[in-house]
Amino acid sequence: MEYMHDQILLGDCLALLPCMSDQSVDLIVTSPPYADARKSTYGGHPPDQYVAWFLPIAEELYRVLKDNGSFVLNIKERVVGGERGIYVLELILALRKQGWLWTEEYCWHKKNCYPGKWPNRFRDSWERCLHFTKAKHFRMYQDAVKVPMGDWKDKRLANLSETDRTRDNSRVGSGFGKNVSNWVGRDEAYPTNVLHLATESSNRQHSATFPVALPSWFIKLFTVPGDVVLDPFMGSGTTAKAAILLDRHYVGMELLPEYRAVALATVTEAWEERRKQETKRSRKENPEPVQETLLVASDD
Ligand SMILES: C[S@@+](CC[C@H](N)C(=O)[O-])C[C@H]1O[C@@H](n2cnc3c(N)ncnc32)[C@H](O)[C@@H]1O
Repeated sequence: MEYMHDQILLGDCLALLPCMSDQSVDLIVTSPPYADARKSTYGGHPPDQYVAWFLPIAEELYRVLKDNGSFVLNIKERVVGGERGIYVLELILALRKQGWLWTEEYCWHKKNCYPGKWPNRFRDSWERCLHFTKAKHFRMYQDAVKVPMGDWKDKRLANLSETDRTRDNSRVGSGFGKNVSNWVGRDEAYPTNVLHLATESSNRQHSATFPVALPSWFIKLFTVPGDVVLDPFMGSGTTAKAAILLDRHYVGMELLPEYRAVALATVTEAWEERRKQETKRSRKENPEPVQETLLVASDD
């Protein structure tokens, strides 16, 4: 059986994924339960069992993802017994053995992280967004996530040195080089691999949501309208909302009925928001003809 697109399925993704066709998904964006985290809410997995739990799911993700698709995994290791856990590092190694390429690591900087003090570390304000692919050549639409150049261009590009005007090859032998003068006169630049996004405190009745801007950014970067985005750990439906607003199809899976209900409500809201956006856009593109007012001269 092939699932219809644009559904949020109830159940364990390990049981649901086998019902999807091979190579039917363009992008997977997801945030699974972190090891041991929030056990009371939706069941964590102990760090030493995490890789064994995740690998069969990852095998299915590999099968359903198109060869030129991407898999973005938002995850973070906690501090246990005074030391950072290593289960994410173990997971990366295990996924590579399974055939995935660990293509990139994006850093989600949580701009509004609450303050705090610990005796041996500072507040944690970032999470990993691990980018895996099946091949070195995959689809990526970098222009879709360009950012304004910012004020630095006025100072930095005003006085170019001789090196700035030629390709300056990396001194550490990475093979990368830069020519700063290429950016003169441009208003937009490519972003870095650090995403500065605030967490969203919402009333969506889920304790571990990511902001809609997070899946949106990866959806824009790795897909085009009409593509299929899968989130096997859908939670409150954030990825589905991002997909709807960007005119992509979504497939979601969620273990707990109460969270699936929240996700379904999110989807309904997202369609409403998209309808409003489309009405606004169409009004802008096709403004109503200005009514000609007939002025009748009065004898008064
Ligand atoms: C970190 S939360 C995802 C939050 C989501 N990104 C959002 O913005 O709302 C992980 C979700 O995965 C669900 N989950 C846990 N194990 C699962 C499984 N085996 N299959 C499907 N969903 C699962 C949990 O119930 C939880 O809602």
